[in-house]
Amino acid sequence: MKITFLGHSCFLLEGQSVKVLIDPFITGNPTAGAEVEDINTDYVLVTHGHGDHLGDTVQIAKQCNATVVGVLEIANYCKRQGVNAHPMQIGGSYQFGSIKVKLTQALHSSSIGGDSGPAEYLGNPCGFIIEMDGKIIYHAGDTGLFGDMELIGRLTSIDLALLPIGDNYTMGIDDAVEAVKMIDPKSVIPMHYNTFPLVEQNPEQFKEKVNAVSSAEVIILESGEEYDL
Ligand code: NI
Ligand code: MN
Repeated sequence: MKITFLGHSCFLLEGQSVKVLIDPFITGNPTAGAEVEDINTDYVLVTHGHGDHLGDTVQIAKQCNATVVGVLEIANYCKRQGVNAHPMQIGGSYQFGSIKVKLTQALHSSSIGGDSGPAEYLGNPCGFIIEMDGKIIYHAGDTGLFGDMELIGRLTSIDLALLPIGDNYTMGIDDAVEAVKMIDPKSVIPMHYNTFPLVEQNPEQFKEKVNAVSSAEVIILESGEEYDL
């Protein structure tokens, strides 16, 4: 499968028959790796309601006639904007044709608006475990380190983990290294860094620290860059 990093926490997974887009933050993202109108996908998975994750979900779902997958409150929000959405909750999984999606917990919040008025809360934030073309991908969403990552690693043989390292809003490098030890993925791609000054981090430092304690391969992608899983 082809994995394309589109900046921040956005990835496009292109399998044999299905395309899955996660957290499409394109508009307003100084590091965006694509134009909104050029994106084609069957599903849009949304980890939480913050603008740098929900992002362009509604427009992309409309232009592609794609189905949004997220917690109930995210799904309902998207349905109110006129797009197809499939509601789930943390711990649940569902088979969408040839792909299976399970929601994991994430230690974070999930709201929309709030900069200049009351925020609307959109349920719990989540991560995703995606089974597709015989591979298993874990997108952690925005999260702090939590001990049940060990459970994820024990129950699921993760081929690729997508982990935030930006600090401030999520895990920083050292906690993300601990996450790698618990999840024990075959490979890991860092995300949610160097988009804004508040999340500036050196991914090479993450790579060095992972290499010192784990056999997981760290892949650092530039925005727009592809990786064959
Ligand atoms: Ni967030
Ligand atoms: Mn974020």
